[in-house]
Amino acid sequence: MTSGGTESNNTALYGIASQKKGKHIITSSIEHDAILEPCKHLERESYKVSYLPVDKYGLIDPEDLRKELSHDTCLVTVMFANNEVGTIQPIKELARIAHEKNAIFHTDAVQAVGKVAIDVKGFGVDLLSISSHKINGPKGVGALYIKKGVKISPLLLGGGQESGLRSGTENVANMAGFGMACKLARDNLDQNISHFKKLTNRLVSRVINEIQGTTLNGHPEKRIPNNVHFTFLGVSGEDLIIKLDENKIAASTGSACSVRIQRPSHVLKAMGFSHEQITGSLRLTVGTTNTEQEIDDTVEVLKKVVKELRTVSPYKSKYNF
Ligand SMILES: Cc1ncc(COP(=O)(O)O)c(C=O)c1O
Repeated sequence: MTSGGTESNNTALYGIASQKKGKHIITSSIEHDAILEPCKHLERESYKVSYLPVDKYGLIDPEDLRKELSHDTCLVTVMFANNEVGTIQPIKELARIAHEKNAIFHTDAVQAVGKVAIDVKGFGVDLLSISSHKINGPKGVGALYIKKGVKISPLLLGGGQESGLRSGTENVANMAGFGMACKLARDNLDQNISHFKKLTNRLVSRVINEIQGTTLNGHPEKRIPNNVHFTFLGVSGEDLIIKLDENKIAASTGSACSVRIQRPSHVLKAMGFSHEQITGSLRLTVGTTNTEQEIDDTVEVLKKVVKELRTVSPYKSKYNF
């Protein structure tokens, strides 16, 4: 057990870096800060970190991983699904390539668990991070799957709880809640996926057909079913969020779990988006309790507020909406 995705990712990175001899880590340019920040810290500690590029859909080319790997590579860490645009990476193939050079393979699966079927053995991963609150469990709890035989150094030292991997008295109530959330996510996976798909398909087709100058970002098929990410040309995603909020619709531009002040999304930048495209971007996610009626209401609100914002947009003369 950990305190969430952030601790799981940090444990994987530091836990492997301090075990293995190699001083080279490979990750992607679109990871969550809970990977990028520890990577930056390790760079200051004389590790070399390579950041794999992505294409316009946010997908990594496995051949780029093959080119970067060396005998000094101790860890490859690539997220399962992106938290902004929802793109799913070819994890099985990436893990296989990493193993060809004896590197450990970790994946941040915080956004993927409960949205796609994950079989750690089938995917061949050594380490996998999960966060409870992404599957409707309690906040402040998560887990790091560690394959049998993979050696990892603990972040917390003390009384030796959790087989010495995380000292300190366990938060049993949180663990029980997380366990139940995992059980429900697994038992209801197929049903939840169909529900998410029904809602997001409806949202995407209505928005694209009914609001001009709109694109769906991320991969059209290789994506988690609960996420949609749009660019509305000629509007500011920030303004859009405020207007949506006034209509009781929660959306986000970048990472919803970042407490940072606004900065242009590093994910969209890595995907080659222009400043204007980044500015006009918005992420919407659906949950198990959302309804088709709520999707239709959201579309109606979006149609209205996008139109309003475009009338005062600095890009107004550029487009003929
Ligand atoms: C991909 C990804 N990794 C890590 C995290 C951090 O997880 P936590 O908030 O549980 O620490 C998040 C948060 O949403 C995330 O989306």
